[in-house]
Amino acid sequence: MTLPLTPEFAPAAYEPLAAAEGRVVLLLPPEGRLGALARRLNRAARGAVQRALDSKAWAKLKPGEAMELQWPAGLRAEAVQLVKLPARATVAEARKAGAAAGRALGEAGAVVLAAGQRRVADIALGLTLRAYDFGRYRTGEAAPKPRGTVTILVDDPDAARAAMVPVAAVAEGVCFTRDLVNEPANVLTTTDFASRLAGMKSLGLSVEVLEEKDLEKLGMRALLGVGQGSESPSKVVVMEWQGGKKGEAPFAFVGKGVCFDSGGISIKPAAGMEEMTMDMGGAGVVAGLMRTLALRKAKANVVGLVGLVENMPDGRAQRPGDIVASMKGDTIEVINTDAEGRLVLADVLWYAQDRFSPRGMIDLATLTGAIIIALGHENAGVFANDDRLAAALLKAAGAEGEGAWRMPLGPAYDEMIKSRLADMKNTGGRPGGSITAAQFLRRFVRDDTPWCHIDIAGVALQSKDTTLAPKGATGWGVMTLDRLVRDLLEG
Ligand code: BES
Ligand code: MN
Ligand code: ZN
Repeated sequence: MTLPLTPEFAPAAYEPLAAAEGRVVLLLPPEGRLGALARRLNRAARGAVQRALDSKAWAKLKPGEAMELQWPAGLRAEAVQLVKLPARATVAEARKAGAAAGRALGEAGAVVLAAGQRRVADIALGLTLRAYDFGRYRTGEAAPKPRGTVTILVDDPDAARAAMVPVAAVAEGVCFTRDLVNEPANVLTTTDFASRLAGMKSLGLSVEVLEEKDLEKLGMRALLGVGQGSESPSKVVVMEWQGGKKGEAPFAFVGKGVCFDSGGISIKPAAGMEEMTMDMGGAGVVAGLMRTLALRKAKANVVGLVGLVENMPDGRAQRPGDIVASMKGDTIEVINTDAEGRLVLADVLWYAQDRFSPRGMIDLATLTGAIIIALGHENAGVFANDDRLAAALLKAAGAEGEGAWRMPLGPAYDEMIKSRLADMKNTGGRPGGSITAAQFLRRFVRDDTPWCHIDIAGVALQSKDTTLAPKGATGWGVMTLDRLVRDLLEG
């Protein structure tokens, strides 16, 4: 995987600033008041730092934004980056400030002066996440350059190192998710995905891969129908983390893992189809979350389940009009083979409850284009049968700065997925397309299982850079769900 860079922490001193050959990053309050070390640096640069801080350009910057002096006279550094960060910075501001440094990072590394800062770990997280670069398919000139070391100067390096342990676990989980989502489908097949998950056994997770014959025995015909036109075998992977009380029911996370969604026989238009390599995004988030929980040895029992399939057209592929029986026993008329995610999730959700009787369950899926029409790329859509769980989830998303918005469910939407021949059909037409999809999933959730469904179709991949990620996979959800596990299960 693309390992996130790991910043080093050192005591605040002038020497490392003077010796830095890469970038020097100063985090400064809006008033631009310089501390003793920055003052010394300013003197060496013949007052250039202070002049920059006296400029209108500095005054205009918002918290977390930056400007820079290039090739400053009197210093060895390539550049001095000035990042605006109020003394009482919010988590979001601290991460954004770190991200400004992470985005600009070059081969020669950086020395970041963070003495006096309260949110050092958040600054480091922002830096690490924004410095992510999925470069494994770029060669020659375009190949990713090795990053120099990043040293963060702080008042108490030991405290900073300790605070960094859980944060580094989050960063690695997010990067693991991003890699999975960025990978093309000829590389990240169902088999490759499963073996990357099996690789997490070394972190103390128990990982079990259910193969097609196992799924057949369990009666997962809804899931198997989706994958039957592909050369890649369908799989369900179960990842267990037991860091909580022995025998206590786990919380379950379930992910849609469609490694490529061509639409199947109801084939998608050519334009933009290449983006459907991200249709395993829900499974990617579950995988990244499990990695984070294992790395930071979370004190909770959590199980992650992913349904891995590929949706392809073929002589053996599922047809529109086919009727399949789910593991639950309910029958489904497949009106459109491109509404495949709900077929996969139906069986994995049911299996999760049947096997683990979880105390709560959250599924994530790049489920519908309609959620992008509703919420754009700013918010994931949250559907729930339980107000408390939904509130906890939205609170965690708010704290982590990941957009999430509650959407409705209701019996009226059930009318829209009634089938003439079977218990239900897999599409409800264009109106409320994300809601009928969620209402479909709800039929595979027991009334006594608190459950949320998160439609991440709009947020898993971004076509422009965002604050904490370069364009491409974002890893949306790993931070939110890690926070939720802390709030709900580790409290
Ligand atoms: N994977 C897609 C949804 C999607 C669209 C994800 C855009 C990310 C970006 C899903 O399987 C799908 O094709 N949904 C259909 C459902 C329709 C046929 C009822 C859709 O949204 O058009
Ligand atoms: Mn589809
Ligand atoms: Zn899909």
